[in-house]
Amino acid sequence: MTLEEKAKLLVGGANNFFGASAVVGGEADLVAGAAGTSPAIPRLGIPATVLTDGPAGVRINPTRPGTDQTFYATAFPIGTCLASTWNTDLVRQVGGAIGNETKEYRCDVILGPGMNLHRNPLCGRNFEYYSEDPLLTGWIAAAYINGVQAEGAGVSAKHFAVNSQETDRTSVDERVSQRAARELYLRGFEIAVRESNPWTIMASYNQINGQYSMGNHDLLTSILRDDWGYKGIVMTDWIGIRDGLPTISEVHAGNDLMEPGQPAQIDEIIKGVKEGKLSMEDVDRNVRRMLEYIVKTPSFQNYPASNKPDFKAHAAITRQSACEGIVLLKNNGTLPWKGGIKTVALFGENSYDFLSGGTGSGCVHPPYVVDMLEGLKNVGISSSTTLTDIYRKYIDYARVKFQAERHPAKWFQTEMMGQQKYPEIAIAPIAINKEVQNADAAIITIGRQAGEGIDRDIDTEFNLIPEERSLIINVCNAFHAEGKPVIVIINSGSVIETASWSGYPDAILCAWQPGMEGGNSIADLLTGKVNPSGKLTMTWPIAATDHPSTKNFPGNIDDYTFQMMVGNKMPIPGHTYTNHEEDIYVGYRYFDTFQKNVSYPFGFGLSYTTFAFSNLKIKALKNESVEVQVTVKNTGSVSGKEVAQVYLRAPKGQLEKPMQELKGFAKTRELKPGESQTLTINIPIRLLASFDEAGSRWLLEAGTYTFAVGNSSRDIALTAPLKLAEYTEATTNVLKPKTPLNLLHQ
Ligand code: BGC
Repeated sequence: MTLEEKAKLLVGGANNFFGASAVVGGEADLVAGAAGTSPAIPRLGIPATVLTDGPAGVRINPTRPGTDQTFYATAFPIGTCLASTWNTDLVRQVGGAIGNETKEYRCDVILGPGMNLHRNPLCGRNFEYYSEDPLLTGWIAAAYINGVQAEGAGVSAKHFAVNSQETDRTSVDERVSQRAARELYLRGFEIAVRESNPWTIMASYNQINGQYSMGNHDLLTSILRDDWGYKGIVMTDWIGIRDGLPTISEVHAGNDLMEPGQPAQIDEIIKGVKEGKLSMEDVDRNVRRMLEYIVKTPSFQNYPASNKPDFKAHAAITRQSACEGIVLLKNNGTLPWKGGIKTVALFGENSYDFLSGGTGSGCVHPPYVVDMLEGLKNVGISSSTTLTDIYRKYIDYARVKFQAERHPAKWFQTEMMGQQKYPEIAIAPIAINKEVQNADAAIITIGRQAGEGIDRDIDTEFNLIPEERSLIINVCNAFHAEGKPVIVIINSGSVIETASWSGYPDAILCAWQPGMEGGNSIADLLTGKVNPSGKLTMTWPIAATDHPSTKNFPGNIDDYTFQMMVGNKMPIPGHTYTNHEEDIYVGYRYFDTFQKNVSYPFGFGLSYTTFAFSNLKIKALKNESVEVQVTVKNTGSVSGKEVAQVYLRAPKGQLEKPMQELKGFAKTRELKPGESQTLTINIPIRLLASFDEAGSRWLLEAGTYTFAVGNSSRDIALTAPLKLAEYTEATTNVLKPKTPLNLLHQ
């Protein structure tokens, strides 16, 4: 290869969304609406490869000029919903279906899974991510990746790393201790790398301790490749040339593909080599990795893309996985409905405009979305025609109004960027009273939309707005007066406030944004066709501000320089930093250690049956892993699945520890009443260790540890001690914070 060809191979093309003229490559329109491409070099038989968002399905343009053919893709459950299944086999199946649609639509890589941590419930992209826990994140991601890659398509695990906020996301400096970085923000990626070898990883936009991830040698080479042995390629998140970050330093750092690249970057690489500022070894190393990636792709292997995914088969997978990811938060015995409920009054605009996924690059354009109305109809439950009429008319009006009033700079609020959420309307008590007469029960859907580019607001997005609050209170009062039940369905990608209103309804089902079969999945659960088995993968706090990270989310306000942008206050890029003062105390690690009350704890989720845990056995297998065995028995009257969660409680030692940390989990098969299953969970010793900054190493101190098994972090059924010998694992000593962080300590 000539130097010019090598340089070209490292600089990717973008899609038409970003304006193909400004970027490299004539391949931009290979698949309309795909996010980008790697460059073709026809002389050498190197084809372009196509990169598409991600992660909840293939995001390409659903229609193309000059043809009646459509290119819709299955909308699978969002990341949070998938993780809430705690079922790695099922997530692997979803990955397989997504991998299949990726290659059937002539793409090579799906830009997912999204693996950032739910550091704070207000992050706009939490819906794409899995959990506040890094191990759960890593295992769910590995299952997804193994599923996609078994189909012969690739993934891009993103956003590497510490990209936990959208505000000023392209340049915020995430200042974090080495310990919190290793134990929390990087651990999930490490597990995914070791367990599933992703073809590609996407470097995040933000800085970590003063250095952009994209040009961060510590991150992309020392940690990713030297410590973890990663063999695939790294690509940038979608930014092109960055102020203050030369492309040659990105190449040197171990970033193999600039996305979307610009011609000037090719020139810079060539010039860098000629002037001795960039070594030929660095270029050759990245080129080799690119070639190793390309030969694996469907494009290189001339896969005959059909443009016709098997929607029927994939609809069944999305329906089933949503059923397992939906979490029953409250049930006073009203659910499941056993035939007595024939007519339901459906309240809330999202009952009729059900949100299948979030907005931004993480949206998918599905062929249809089953809303609550249709889902209930499919199981023979009818609903109020008056309410249907009111809400349908309102939605038509709200859609037009919303787009007419949208500021042009709010690109994420266009319909091409996903379904939008319209403000809830008030329904007069007199109208509610009329519905009580005609219906056997009421359902209120509370919807929330969020996505790329903007974080969530506490008052209008975490909390309920006044119209929603009065709807819940008025409907509950009216229906309860007649002895009729009310169910609230939460149709949101992330956590909302529940403490102030959860006393009113009879049952609450957190449906997340469960993909295009959402209404069918919910109907399966309401009618007891499927027994809920989803468990929360993040704590639901009483108030958003209960999380210690709120103090520094989305950044250090005192240090902001504000400008007015599209009506919102936005920080001027580059002026923000986020001190991770809460350090390792993210999510339940904080709430459980500091004994704070929560609305729903990490790992929580109800079932229509009951389970008992017994026979906990723990043993160390050499000094390599710990084997946990526990028997789960269905002690209730209907079939169901249960998740056994294993938490580790450390003895007092040299390193400060959270009160407990999730170290393993397993889900039972469907157990009939009275049936038992013994689960065996193997936990590598290295995952029990904490990060010791002083020694730049993973350290498991010798001592007697307690293994606690239960079905939420606050509902532990059994504990058992185990004596463990010291375990250490040296790492590179990198990613040090440059300023003191004023860390929260126990
Ligand atoms: C997002 C990525 C996405 C990429 C391509 C970026 O703005 O952060 O998650 O994959 O765009 O659409």
